[in-house]
Amino acid sequence: MRVVRTVEQLREALEYMRGGGHTPIGFVPTMGYLHDGHASLLRRATEMSGTVVMSIFVNPLQFGPNEDFASYPRDEARDLELAEREGADIVFIPSVEEMYPRPIRTGVSVSSLTNVLCGASRPGHFDGVTTVVSKLFNMVQPDYAFFGLKDAQQVAVLRQMVSDLNMNVQIVACPIVREADGLALSSRNVYLSEEERLQALVLSRSLRAAREAVEEGSAKTAEEIRQLLASIISSSPLAVIDYAEILTFPDLEPLADDSILAQADGEIIMALAVKFGKTRLIDNIVFTPK
Ligand code: PAJ
Repeated sequence: MRVVRTVEQLREALEYMRGGGHTPIGFVPTMGYLHDGHASLLRRATEMSGTVVMSIFVNPLQFGPNEDFASYPRDEARDLELAEREGADIVFIPSVEEMYPRPIRTGVSVSSLTNVLCGASRPGHFDGVTTVVSKLFNMVQPDYAFFGLKDAQQVAVLRQMVSDLNMNVQIVACPIVREADGLALSSRNVYLSEEERLQALVLSRSLRAAREAVEEGSAKTAEEIRQLLASIISSSPLAVIDYAEILTFPDLEPLADDSILAQADGEIIMALAVKFGKTRLIDNIVFTPK
């Protein structure tokens, strides 16, 4: 495994890996502090690609002024062990100066999909994501890029970007990896106190209950689902709800019909963002309600 820190070194390493012939390049972009969710993307990448590139870059552009950019957890040595163990061939760890050597004047912005859910609560966040991912795609030129459905809105936004701009890469969406007790793995889980960690289980619990309510027919409308999610989450005294929503997926539009089951075929997403103390956690479930 090669660790590279500049765009130039990355290009050299990629040229070397490509050798004479073409081997499909799989790319896993991350912000580091890696866990088994990231590892699952690497595993999928090694199955589908000849060369696997992972990037580790905490992207300042996607953090709001009052968010956790400075304190975002970092542990490069541990990340490199995981990357090596899971089969990465090249790990790209640029500095902020390498990625943004001068104030950036060009950005990529996806409309409408970014006005809801996390886009509504984190203005500018998705512009930061689409801009950095575009830069990374241009640097790596991958055939496949792997993203987790933990950030389902990110997947929807990036799919739209790749399609709208004819980027020559296939986005591969991978399932959410959870702890045995249901908590979705996240680099931000380290911020949680023991009590917050315990109460955070309400996220996955409320999503499971809401899905069951749809499938059994005990909740029929989007509003009933929003209320059910909110009431279960509120049973945890430390939980402060940012949003608890149900939308179509991947278009992220309000459900058209009164009854969820009467929804024209297609997937729906139930998505949550909930704060526990200073820590904002997200979770979701995507399914076809039939
Ligand atoms: P980061 O939060 O580090 O996540 C990197 C990738 O890991 C994302 O595709 C995310 O969805 C996936 N991931 C995180 N937790 C997961 C879990 N429990 N199960 C499955 N996949 C999981 O997302 C970002 O970084 C950034 O926005 C990035 C795309 C790198 C752009 O800066």
